[in-house]
Amino acid sequence: MRPSVYICRSIAQEAISLIAQCCDYRIWNNDQPVPAKILEEEMKKSDGVLTTLSDQVNAAFIAGAPNLKIISNMAAGFDNIDIGEATTKGVMVTNTPGILTNTTADLAFALILAASRRLMEAEKFLRNGQWQAWEPMLLTGQDVYGATLGIIGLGQIGSAVARRAKGFNMNLIYCNRKRNYQAEAELGARYANLRELLSLSDIVSVHCPLTRETKGLISYGELAVMKPTAVLINTARGGVVDEDALYEALANRHIFAAGLDVFSEEPLPLDNPLFKLPNVALLPHIGSASIATRTKMAIMAASDLVAGLTGKLPRNLVNPESYKR
Ligand code: GLV
Repeated sequence: MRPSVYICRSIAQEAISLIAQCCDYRIWNNDQPVPAKILEEEMKKSDGVLTTLSDQVNAAFIAGAPNLKIISNMAAGFDNIDIGEATTKGVMVTNTPGILTNTTADLAFALILAASRRLMEAEKFLRNGQWQAWEPMLLTGQDVYGATLGIIGLGQIGSAVARRAKGFNMNLIYCNRKRNYQAEAELGARYANLRELLSLSDIVSVHCPLTRETKGLISYGELAVMKPTAVLINTARGGVVDEDALYEALANRHIFAAGLDVFSEEPLPLDNPLFKLPNVALLPHIGSASIATRTKMAIMAASDLVAGLTGKLPRNLVNPESYKR
């Protein structure tokens, strides 16, 4: 019998065709997320499910899906899935790392420039008809060229940001769960602990995954040791930064600016106080959003889903223990 698959969003046709070759599929053919209740019901009938980062797959959904063999998440991050429960139940979970590295690093660098040089504020100023004269200190920001960049999480994306930073003659420091000697040699990045990194950096860019250990990693105490001229960038996951603490640091000018592509609640509610601040550049989670990369991500997620359902080892299995089972 052909495996039964649920696809949680409209994705690239090439990816759907791959799945259609050997599976019967149902799809939430919409750009908006599938409601949780429908996802839960669909999972009960599915052997495999293709999810996106905004689909919360909690323990109860997995426990309630007797035939489920694989959850293929079209994202590098997989904090939206209860991995512990999936592993216990022998359900494989896959992600789409690597192919989005450079696209996401480009966006991180765009935010570094936008927040440091006040690009969003400047554009708004111009569009609002406020530009009356060239003024010596009008909309002056912080230099990026030659600045010290602190990278939290020197994995694939963090390293790609570091490579871009070399072209801007930046000094690199990083912190990571483990020292990355290869990156130190290749990039000339210096290892530091988090506090040291925060106090020395002109720009801090977050690239670690969201886990129990990194939730709220940057909070009041951490922001307090940053320079008043410093800029904080987050293109990883919103939950790594305590947004209340960040709001206070920005509003009171304890740090200079921030650039955020990710938030603890997405979409960012319109009444979030961050919207009131001029010194934060806000983007709607578009780190990997190039046409080519999003297409490749959908195809990668689809081919791992098919692999898992046809007895092959998926390429990007995040819980290998589940395959053995
Ligand atoms: C995007 O945030 C991803 O994890 O792919």
